[in-house]
Amino acid sequence: MPTTTPRLLSILTQFLPITRMTPPSTATFASAYLRMTGGCTIHLANTMLSFPSLPPITPASYVLDNACGPGVVTSLLKSRHPAARVMAADLAPAMLDEVDAQIQQNGWSGVETAMLDVRNLEGLDDESFTHVFANLALPVPGDQESGIKAAREMFRVVKKEGVVVVSTWADRVWPAAFTSTAHRIRPTAVPQNAMALEPEYLTGSWLLRQLEEGGFGKNVEIKSVPTYTSAATLDKLVENMFMAKGMFFTGFDEEELGKAKVVLKEEMKGLRTFEEVDGGVRVGMRAWVGVGWKRGDEGEVAC
Ligand SMILES: C[S@@+](CC[C@H](N)C(=O)[O-])C[C@H]1O[C@@H](n2cnc3c(N)ncnc32)[C@H](O)[C@@H]1O
Repeated sequence: MPTTTPRLLSILTQFLPITRMTPPSTATFASAYLRMTGGCTIHLANTMLSFPSLPPITPASYVLDNACGPGVVTSLLKSRHPAARVMAADLAPAMLDEVDAQIQQNGWSGVETAMLDVRNLEGLDDESFTHVFANLALPVPGDQESGIKAAREMFRVVKKEGVVVVSTWADRVWPAAFTSTAHRIRPTAVPQNAMALEPEYLTGSWLLRQLEEGGFGKNVEIKSVPTYTSAATLDKLVENMFMAKGMFFTGFDEEELGKAKVVLKEEMKGLRTFEEVDGGVRVGMRAWVGVGWKRGDEGEVAC
């Protein structure tokens, strides 16, 4: 089983500043990312790729997987549309290494990787992509303008008649199990939560506004969609999610961490969206999916 390295934690702390990320090392990283996220980004990527009324992906499509992580969107896309051309971009070298490894392992053709900031897609030509996906890339922590900057860049690089599909969190649910656990272990301390987001970023109106003001104007749609983090058993779920301990239990000694793991199991089970399902357990979550179409009439005001 992969160990939880500081590098891994830094990548899994999806909303921490990119500057905290450390260099890549092991090949277990992708599976560790998927274990820690419990597949929640995969279910969401699936929903995004199947969003009604997207222009079809064909062998002529050129797709940007923006803030690609270990290539979740790219992987789903290539399994459905092997001939589609894909650019997988991320700011973290460890993530790009994972995509490169998958290109080799799966023999994908037409997939390139690039180290790019979602806020500045320097080097990508205007109007070059038919589809742009950004799964859980926003907001960039510490940059209040990151949503607009990223939306403008995506508007710039998507072709006319093309589409941009972006997801953000609405309700992650599970961090509450960690903060309640921390409170039970250290009742007088304020629980840590390095994943905390300003409530505004969890609203659909925030995502809508970024897309509208980023250039898509009236050609925007927002939907609330379910996803979940899951594992074969509650013990497994807790073990996987305990990889996030650095975001909630910094400074805890070994004894406290040992207790935390036991308490976390109770707290996870008590979450409002915890379910036992065929094949395991899961914690329901919700995300926003926003779609912006570049039709050329974005600026026209309807009367
Ligand atoms: C939650 S992960 C999502 C990864 C992937 N899209 C998925 O579906 O699982 C967020 C990703 O954003 C990347 N990231 C963070 N800040 C970024 C930035 N400013 N520009 C580009 N990528 C960034 C991280 O390296 C990480 O891969």
